[in-house]
Amino acid sequence: MYTLLPLPYSYDDLEPYIDTHTIGLHYHKHQQNYLNKLNELLQKNNYSYRYPIEELGNHLEEFNKEDQENILFQWGGVLNHNVYFRSMAKDKTPMSDALKEAIDKTFGSFDQMKAEWKKQALALKGSGYVFLVQDKDDLKLISFQNQDTPYRYGMNPLLALDLWEHAYYLNYENKKDLYIDNFFEVLDFYFANQNFK
Ligand SMILES: [Fe+2]
Repeated sequence: MYTLLPLPYSYDDLEPYIDTHTIGLHYHKHQQNYLNKLNELLQKNNYSYRYPIEELGNHLEEFNKEDQENILFQWGGVLNHNVYFRSMAKDKTPMSDALKEAIDKTFGSFDQMKAEWKKQALALKGSGYVFLVQDKDDLKLISFQNQDTPYRYGMNPLLALDLWEHAYYLNYENKKDLYIDNFFEVLDFYFANQNFK
């Protein structure tokens, strides 16, 4: 069975920007639910768990046709949350020199990247994410609907902003723009630095 990565902080560590109740629910109910459903579908298909979870989406043809779309959805739900939860921290790691150089080169500056990120986030219709990814040699901000995921397209995700209502609605209600601003207050580069190539 696949298992969840541990949450890399306590539920209250991101207060007041991301509230304790939301983080607890998001991890224990939402992400756990994607994982449980994924495992159920895989077991129904007699899957042997022979691939690392990140590669599962490249082997969809091994599963029953009627389950493939649902497997893809639950798989994206697990992986996208892994990146999102690792995009935030209480004791923030600054971006590495190499990543800073790439961000400056691509977006002009970190502030310009944040402005572009917020614009894309506000433009996203319905549920989804805005990711910072490496796509071959390019760094880019890219939106995904629902649980579609950069892992499906061979992209290397570095940071993710979850824009499903479950990520913010309890605390922010309809104030999505404030949630986005406050996400930047807890933005952490540990995962991005490690995975930037
Ligand atoms: Fe979520």
